[in-house]
Amino acid sequence: MAEILEQQCTFHLRNANISYIMRLVRGEILMHVYFGKRLSEVRGDVLHRFTAVPEEGFDRNEFRLDRLPQEYPACGYGDLRAGALTVRGEDGVDALALAYVRHTIQDGKPALNGLPATHDRTNRCKTLCVTMEDSRLGLECELYYTVFDDCDAIARHVVLHNTGRQTLTVDRVMSACVDFHSAQGQLLTLSGAWARERYMDWRPLSQGRQGVASARGASSAQSNPFMLLAERGAMEDSGEVYAFALVYSGNFTADVTVDQYGGARAMIGLNDEQFDWQLLPGDHFTTPEAVLVYAADGLGGMSREWHALCHRHVTRGPYASAQRPILLNNWEATYFNFTEEKLLALAGKAAQIGVELFVLDDGWFGHRDSDAVSLGDWVEDPRKLPDGLAGFSERIRALGLRFGLWMEPEMVSPDSDLYRAHPDWCLHAPGMPRLTGRNQLVLDMGSPQVQEYVYEAVAGALTRAKADYLKWDMNRNFSPAATAALPPARQRETAHRYMLGLYAVLERLTEAFPEVLFESCASGGGRFDLGMLYYMPQTWCSDNTDAHDRCLIQYSTSLLFPPSAMGAHVSAVPNHQTGRVTALETRSAVAMGGTYGFELDLTQIDESELERMKALLAQEKSVRDTLLYGQFIRLWNPFEGRGAAWMSLSACGRQAVVTAVRFRAAVNGGPEVLRLRGLDSGAHYAVRGTEDVYGGDELMNLGLTLQFATGDDASYTVILERVGA
Ligand code: GLA
Repeated sequence: MAEILEQQCTFHLRNANISYIMRLVRGEILMHVYFGKRLSEVRGDVLHRFTAVPEEGFDRNEFRLDRLPQEYPACGYGDLRAGALTVRGEDGVDALALAYVRHTIQDGKPALNGLPATHDRTNRCKTLCVTMEDSRLGLECELYYTVFDDCDAIARHVVLHNTGRQTLTVDRVMSACVDFHSAQGQLLTLSGAWARERYMDWRPLSQGRQGVASARGASSAQSNPFMLLAERGAMEDSGEVYAFALVYSGNFTADVTVDQYGGARAMIGLNDEQFDWQLLPGDHFTTPEAVLVYAADGLGGMSREWHALCHRHVTRGPYASAQRPILLNNWEATYFNFTEEKLLALAGKAAQIGVELFVLDDGWFGHRDSDAVSLGDWVEDPRKLPDGLAGFSERIRALGLRFGLWMEPEMVSPDSDLYRAHPDWCLHAPGMPRLTGRNQLVLDMGSPQVQEYVYEAVAGALTRAKADYLKWDMNRNFSPAATAALPPARQRETAHRYMLGLYAVLERLTEAFPEVLFESCASGGGRFDLGMLYYMPQTWCSDNTDAHDRCLIQYSTSLLFPPSAMGAHVSAVPNHQTGRVTALETRSAVAMGGTYGFELDLTQIDESELERMKALLAQEKSVRDTLLYGQFIRLWNPFEGRGAAWMSLSACGRQAVVTAVRFRAAVNGGPEVLRLRGLDSGAHYAVRGTEDVYGGDELMNLGLTLQFATGDDASYTVILERVGA
């Protein structure tokens, strides 16, 4: 049960497992007291316990704030650490003194104005809003906190309100800040690059500031809006972990500053680089939402909370809990070089092996024979689709397949009718040459005209195609983030206004086409975040489809995201990115770690291999619910080098799918054993397709003997079914 207790100037948010506590000091300053395992109560003078100053003697007019753990530290007035909020008035001074004004407590959770956020249809969560004020500037600052009853998570955001008469400039506004009394041992972020997104990056905490950020206009492949602090020695199944993620897809920062006393201030929010915001009298500004998760049982426990949160409180629409269709995407099969005849041959083979959805990727519109032209001209190319999307999708459906489409709606090619008609619709700085990336420019999604154009283009294509699925791609970053649509004083609002415009279009489209499954993509996983997940239930994890590399990418992505969110396909060998040759069984086993599909030219595969694909696909189908919505448990960390292993346990506990991949073949090695987790130690489990039966305790302690084939990157998959009641 979620509850918010209010006792003697203390606000205590809690559910069955966690507590989050703050206290009003002298009726004015909001002190952070605690976040962690559930407490029954906090006794005595907490201020005295943590700062050696009794509450009675506390005076904000001394430098005392610098030692005080605070809920939302403003900048420039008594606290010399990095602040969460910087706002300037017309005198240019950026000193703020926030003081408590009022608070409210409500059942459920308010929506965030124009931004994706966690939701709770059951209304069982509780929300506290504390309003603070800087009376000199006429600035109100509402701090929102929601505690969920079924996830060990706290959602936070901030709303600024200019109640005065002068224009205010917001230079920095974090979504959440937590002042830990002592620095937890280590920081983990998900960092990487195109084709190696979200690799686990551990670093010990030390005095000063450390963290990740993006100023690319997208949450990015290079850094993800997520971080966790773990106590030294925390493992998959033990140790305290505090994790932070932002429900946002644009520029962000997530960092921890360890101070002179060994305390740690963790903050997450909009990146203040290339950002400020003019707040006119009467204006409001809402920050993106941050979600904080606490787990006492290590990284595994933390991930289970995130996965539950994603399923119950982030993803929307029928696909939040429905089975995902097994798809074939033609990108790596044909790239731009296809005819309708070729695609139909491919789709015919796909139908033969049991694929459910055919996805037509890039190249179907304008004169798009390469990536140099036609983005923005979303009209079928009659050379490739003589009867348009309508005629082609009809033929696909006649094969018994559903139909899906690729678009990259936020972009424009300089060589396009759209650009010739509206050269000012892209991000650009007057007087500077327009920088292209992958031969394209970024449309200014902050502009209402652009939003309308994009909405109509996408809605039109979905309607003509009667599409069941849309892959929404985004293949370049912002540089410069400037626009002709805003006056000079507002140029640094461009990137955030872009995101608000994009979200407005996505909201309209997902409302108008509730049955369409949206898959997000940004050159693979360049925008894999909770903001996109709110609109699009799955994300194409990476352009790197190599099964070996995918073990690393998917393993670390699973820290935050469930398998149902991760697009994963069986592709050709030699792999198009790495040149590596991997067994079909391994490619399939790794794709089973996400939303399963194929991305290769099936017309070039011989019948016997197609039969093996058909069997592997049927295997996946038979356990799809367990894979997508079961409990995901990581077993071998691929970053340690030996290999990767994981398992999915069905919600009722009756079925488990276990997969291991051994990276390097070992000649004359000993038996490889994998100890499972999460099973019922008193139950028995039968191994599908064999006569073998093992006890749960046996599998978890003695372990499962892995029977790898020879060769590098060999895999072993078993399906366990619980025997009896
Ligand atoms: C991006 C995507 C790919 C593919 C191409 C098409 O790179 O990540 O999957 O759709 O665009 O141009």
